[in-house]
Amino acid sequence: MSKSKKTALITGSYGGLGTRFADIHAASGGDLILVGRVQTKLDAQAKEMEKKYHVTAHTIAADLSSPDAAQQIYNTCKENGWNVDYLINNAGYGGQGDFARERTMEQDLSMIAVNVETPTRLCKLFLPDMIKRGSGKVLNVSSTAATMPGPLQACYYATKAYVTSWSNAVSRELKDTGVTMTCLMPGAMSTGFANAGGLSDTALFANATDPTPVAQAGYDAMMKGKMNITAGLVGIQKIFMKLTPILPKKMLMDNVYNMQMRGSAKK
Ligand SMILES: NC(=O)c1ccc[n+]([C@@H]2O[C@H](COP(=O)([O-])OP(=O)(O)OC[C@H]3O[C@@H](n4cnc5c(N)ncnc54)[C@H](OP(=O)(O)O)[C@@H]3O)[C@@H](O)[C@H]2O)c1
Repeated sequence: MSKSKKTALITGSYGGLGTRFADIHAASGGDLILVGRVQTKLDAQAKEMEKKYHVTAHTIAADLSSPDAAQQIYNTCKENGWNVDYLINNAGYGGQGDFARERTMEQDLSMIAVNVETPTRLCKLFLPDMIKRGSGKVLNVSSTAATMPGPLQACYYATKAYVTSWSNAVSRELKDTGVTMTCLMPGAMSTGFANAGGLSDTALFANATDPTPVAQAGYDAMMKGKMNITAGLVGIQKIFMKLTPILPKKMLMDNVYNMQMRGSAKK
């Protein structure tokens, strides 16, 4: 089958990174299944993609914090005969705050559901079909946050550590099946993420990068079936990431804590 005939399902499709994935895939002639919470936003995006790229764009409205969302998405694809060639688990969010004194139970558990539970469920549902067909690609969006503990975003960093570990392990299990799983680990990007997570005035986002090259790097890595790709790091961040495994953990966590304090961007 030619590349242009492939259909990509993208969660969080109208978000910062999601729109870039949709653009990149549609520009190659591929069809889309756009997944997000708000139907009107999905409709507008589908209309734009179809007009701009002459592809077919389906939509599925789903709140990915619901335990039923993955099954609903899978059933909708099956009922309509929409084959998913590429699954891009992109939707996700962070949230600034002290775990015990500021963040509520609901805030952190909803985040774990969106970042961890639903991508896991989606892969449990879609992977067996891909393996049966002997073809398919999965791209899981993690973060450079996966490589360290993240005080003042404790659960977010832990969700991304899960995504990377799980994704890498499953990629090994998929060897010789014709199906691949790739994990993208971006640095801080200028998307809706900082605002959604209450992180806009933190030093972490002082050098946020354009999400377009990050999406391209992730998409290309998925196409090549690579296991991991890190993208979107600038200057000192590249050195910091290299040093992460050998830095004393307490020093590393002090640094992350200070960078994620409210107002730290101005310090
Ligand atoms: N931006 C960064 O600095 C950064 C760095 C590393 C990794 N990442 C990861 O990159 C991915 C994309 O994030 P982004 O930067 O593009 O942020 P974004 O612009 O805020 O987009 C996030 C997308 O996820 C969707 N989403 C959130 N909660 C949802 C829910 N319950 N149900 C359905 N959709 C939901 C959002 O939809 P709504 O608008 O309806 O909420 C939005 O479309 C995430 O997995 C994030 O963790 C981001």
